[in-house]
Amino acid sequence: MCLAIKIWASDETQHNQQNLILSMFDIFPKLSYQALQSGKNYFAFTHKTVSSQIKNLIYPSLQPNISPLSPKLLTQLQDSMNQLLARDWEDSQAGVYPQNLLFDDSWEDFFRYYPLICLDLPNIWERIKNRRYQEFSQEIATDNYPSYYLQNFHYQTDGYLSELSANLYDLQVEILFGGSTDAMRRRILCPLKSQLTAFDHIPQEQLRVIDVACGTGRTLKLIRSALPDVSLFGIDLSSAYLRKANELLCQIPGELPQLVQGNVEELPYRDNYFHGTTCVFLFHELPAAVRQTVIEECFRVTKPGGVFIICDSIQENDLPEMELVIKNFPETFHEPYYKHYITDNLVERLEKAGFEQIETQVHFVSKYWIAHKPSY
Ligand SMILES: C[S@@+](CC[C@H](N)C(=O)[O-])C[C@H]1O[C@@H](n2cnc3c(N)ncnc32)[C@H](O)[C@@H]1O
Repeated sequence: MCLAIKIWASDETQHNQQNLILSMFDIFPKLSYQALQSGKNYFAFTHKTVSSQIKNLIYPSLQPNISPLSPKLLTQLQDSMNQLLARDWEDSQAGVYPQNLLFDDSWEDFFRYYPLICLDLPNIWERIKNRRYQEFSQEIATDNYPSYYLQNFHYQTDGYLSELSANLYDLQVEILFGGSTDAMRRRILCPLKSQLTAFDHIPQEQLRVIDVACGTGRTLKLIRSALPDVSLFGIDLSSAYLRKANELLCQIPGELPQLVQGNVEELPYRDNYFHGTTCVFLFHELPAAVRQTVIEECFRVTKPGGVFIICDSIQENDLPEMELVIKNFPETFHEPYYKHYITDNLVERLEKAGFEQIETQVHFVSKYWIAHKPSY
């Protein structure tokens, strides 16, 4: 079509048309991104509405003790998601990460596992009805895990300990966050990249970044796109989630991130090893004392001059208008440590461990702590 316009147009019209085509290319990906995100958001909303209506029909006694969100609050939530997406788009245009990362959805997983999410709903409802929040399939060995970990977080079947759970997790979180999970994870990339410039004198291949509690590897994949040459590491307690992460990460070019099964309370790395340490969506699932231990471990393994970035849920008092959303969350999902988490002062905890110059940011329903290890 482009060629046809060139043949038939005069020089001036050709020039104008070329500009038009160029600016259409400029506009089109943005519109495509917005359309994709709206589609995911509507889909998630429809799934949540229909599934909760079916649940209310079958289990009328299971209605959670939550206050409904007012239309004003829903609009505020939508606005704040749109702001997140706008920042996401801007960072991709500024070259913090490639634009194609915004379209990196696993449609194969969606078509394979969405039906399983629906089929699993009755199991979840039974679990809620019978208040069985530490329920695992018989074949799953539950010894050797800390007791706080042996939970059906979000009522998930098998907690974090089965292949089924690993296959459904990303989609479940996408539904929860209306398709904006990766956009929230990507908010760590700009501070991570800019803080790593402190090590500009070192070749990129010699920089080491670890994502602790890496889960299914989504954050590592995003970091790989923004920092193609750095050496990446991931650690998680769940071997099923690590297998899923390996499946995802071995498809992308570049050195394969080194994945280790282990407890982030005792990181199996030497002191001062990593130039950057990240942790996404872990802290709200930890008891208070463990949060401190994990922060201290992350301090130990981060190099002097390095950066530690946490991304997790917003907390009480971050955004007064979101108070109800925060209050409803642990009523709707099994999140035993969330109520304490939302009041926990992580800045104090980070300072206690030795971090300094701690910056916090809030985007949509996530909060970020960007902490520096002093360079002595
Ligand atoms: C909510 S998921 C977040 C996963 C991933 N970071 C993400 O962005 O989706 C929490 C993850 O933390 C892991 N986890 C929880 N406690 C842990 C611990 N003490 N040591 C290692 N991993 C842990 C779980 O296995 C799970 O993969």
